[in-house]
Amino acid sequence: MVHINIFDTTLRDGEQSPGVNLNQLEKLEIARQLERFGVHVMEAGFPASSQGDFEAVQSIARTVKNVSVAGLARASKADIDTTWEALKEAKDPRLHVFIATSPIHMTYKLKKTPEEVMRLAVEMVRYGKSKFPTVQWSAEDASRSDLDFLVHIIEKVIDAGASVINLPDTVGYTTPEEYGRLFRYIKENVPNIDKVTLSAHCHDDLGMAVANSLAAIENGATQVEGTINGIGERAGNAALEEFAVALNIRKDKYPFTTGLILKEIKRTSDLVRKLTGMSIAPNKAVVGQNAFAHESGIHQDGVLKHAQTYEIITPELVGIQSNQLVLGKHSGRHAFKDKIEQLGFSLSEAKLLEAFQDFKSLTDRKKEVTDEDLFTILTDIQTTVTNVKKYELLAFQVQSGTSNLPTATVALKSPEGIRVETARTGKGSVESLYNTLEALIKEEIHLEKYHLSSVGQGRDALAEVHVKMTVNNVPVSGRGSAQDVLEASAKAFLNAVNRVFYNQVFMKKEKAQV
Ligand code: KIV
Ligand code: ZN
Repeated sequence: MVHINIFDTTLRDGEQSPGVNLNQLEKLEIARQLERFGVHVMEAGFPASSQGDFEAVQSIARTVKNVSVAGLARASKADIDTTWEALKEAKDPRLHVFIATSPIHMTYKLKKTPEEVMRLAVEMVRYGKSKFPTVQWSAEDASRSDLDFLVHIIEKVIDAGASVINLPDTVGYTTPEEYGRLFRYIKENVPNIDKVTLSAHCHDDLGMAVANSLAAIENGATQVEGTINGIGERAGNAALEEFAVALNIRKDKYPFTTGLILKEIKRTSDLVRKLTGMSIAPNKAVVGQNAFAHESGIHQDGVLKHAQTYEIITPELVGIQSNQLVLGKHSGRHAFKDKIEQLGFSLSEAKLLEAFQDFKSLTDRKKEVTDEDLFTILTDIQTTVTNVKKYELLAFQVQSGTSNLPTATVALKSPEGIRVETARTGKGSVESLYNTLEALIKEEIHLEKYHLSSVGQGRDALAEVHVKMTVNNVPVSGRGSAQDVLEASAKAFLNAVNRVFYNQVFMKKEKAQV
């Protein structure tokens, strides 16, 4: 069996998805979960892109210890210096420095000749190696680059100190056969290639990211990059959970191991979905809601007679538990604490108390509190930023029905600590609530997307709302959960608005794009 290192870039390439803006605590929560999932490297961000990214990468580097932490940098000394500052306390820091190598990128984007690109790449790898124990170099748009130029530049950056060479299919253009051929060519033609790890990084524009990653490992790659749920710009990146499960289920065809803990897939996927607000198609492989549902009578009959007639993956393999232990009204603090530890959360005493109070108030309205409910409550508590001024919901009331004008009355505590309240109407209950919130909040708000889902099943399920909006022309997203749909809606709205205050404190520079 050949071991494949998994390089997760959910917090960097994944975070570049439109509308995704995670705060530091949210990134930290995802980082902890990626560590539990067993990734070999996590790319925590792009430290030179903004103050917020810098601080998030730094706090991840200080927190996770069983995984290498990487930071992305353009081919510039300033980027490399900033990345080192962010990562120097990591147990195993890695510089990920990239430059484009395809004719189209070099000519139009970089406006540099191949010789200039080669010189810069070598110089920056050498500079990076003077600071970092591990330097990964990426040839952006490798799949559309000239093969002989690639061979040449790779040989030189290896000599300069790179120990991982990544060949991204940046625009998701390649096919499995072509991408496999690229790796084989590089393996066979770069004289010093045996000194390094070859890495695959695939985008899913043509729906082939996972297939391309599999082709890469069949042709010499021993690192695969991707994201949880396949999130990322445009059509996203290779979905790591799909890649890992494909290797597990088709061991007969793919003699490779990853070291990933497959039972953590469900939790990792849920956390990323919840915090990024990027919902998952019900039919998505491995983690979609219907991935294990058998609707047709023939299939149901077959599965009952012998599960493997129609089920090649068991829900248990990816951590979906059929009989969740539930807590209720009479569960005490001890049972609650045990449960949250089982769920993998470690909370401070203050947060534990807050979580217990939220749990108790939920049990007043809901007979059985499931793992999914607790996961939602605990995630909210773990990721709430407390040290930034913000709007807080004090009280609200909405009147609506078929024969009256929906009207909301809301009281908020403003960031200055003042109680403000007003009432507005709307065409529906959510609209009246949002009109009222908008009237109370001084910022310029445009709601772009509203998405309501339920956490688990049953008429008393928790509601979860994700919104996307612009606040003073800055795109932000927000999420909120509560048993009441309107309360969850109000929380999501305020969660998005409050990110503006967070960004004012932490995103002092405009975020640079890759
Ligand atoms: O897709 C890509 O080329 C990238 C690089 C920055 C590695 O994400
Ligand atoms: Zn990418």
